[in-house]
Amino acid sequence: MNRQTFSALVTSMFALLATGAKLQSARAADPPSESRVAVGKELFKSKGSCVFCHGWAGDGGGNPHSPGNASNLRRTQLSRAQLFEVVSCGRPGTAMPHFNAYAYVEDPCYGIEGSPGGRIVPPNPPRPLQPREIDAIIDYLQAKVIGKGPPTRAECIEFFMEPGPCAD
Ligand code: HEC
Repeated sequence: MNRQTFSALVTSMFALLATGAKLQSARAADPPSESRVAVGKELFKSKGSCVFCHGWAGDGGGNPHSPGNASNLRRTQLSRAQLFEVVSCGRPGTAMPHFNAYAYVEDPCYGIEGSPGGRIVPPNPPRPLQPREIDAIIDYLQAKVIGKGPPTRAECIEFFMEPGPCAD
């Protein structure tokens, strides 16, 4: 190998290394995959019963309505970590359930100790969720709900995958 070929090789190796590093940091900042968002949507809709209280659009217009005033998730200011905490731990003193089955018992929440069913502990969830399921729901909320403004008919049709339940 002559000197020129060698230096060309070294240059391209560095280029490769640089590309590798770039890909990695891009991946960390990347939005979640379509499939994770789709899984999160299904959990939001069915297993989590989030729609029951927060409405299909997450705007708090649950139908049937929740006993408490469910938050408008489209306008939430919470960080990812805070969203995870609220869904896992619920909101003491409100109708927002804790979706982590071990919340307040094995897993501490907001530094509160309580017994399940105790006054301070939020209601039990319709069905508890695994941490990875809560993560997928947050992926969905961040991709499709939070900061999206008032819900549109197009979003409604996308959510239900048919125009039937959507007002004109
Ligand atoms: C039984 C009704 C009910 C169900 C089911 C429910 N929520 Fe809630 N949620 C509430 C209420 C009520 C609040 C408002 C609590 C408060 O006043 O602080 C709330 C608040 C929240 C908040 C806090 C928003 C903020 O900006 O403070 C998040 C996030 C949230 N819910 C997500 C979810 C998700 C995700 C699900 C499904 C896994 C879900 N909720 C299921 C009733 C419900």
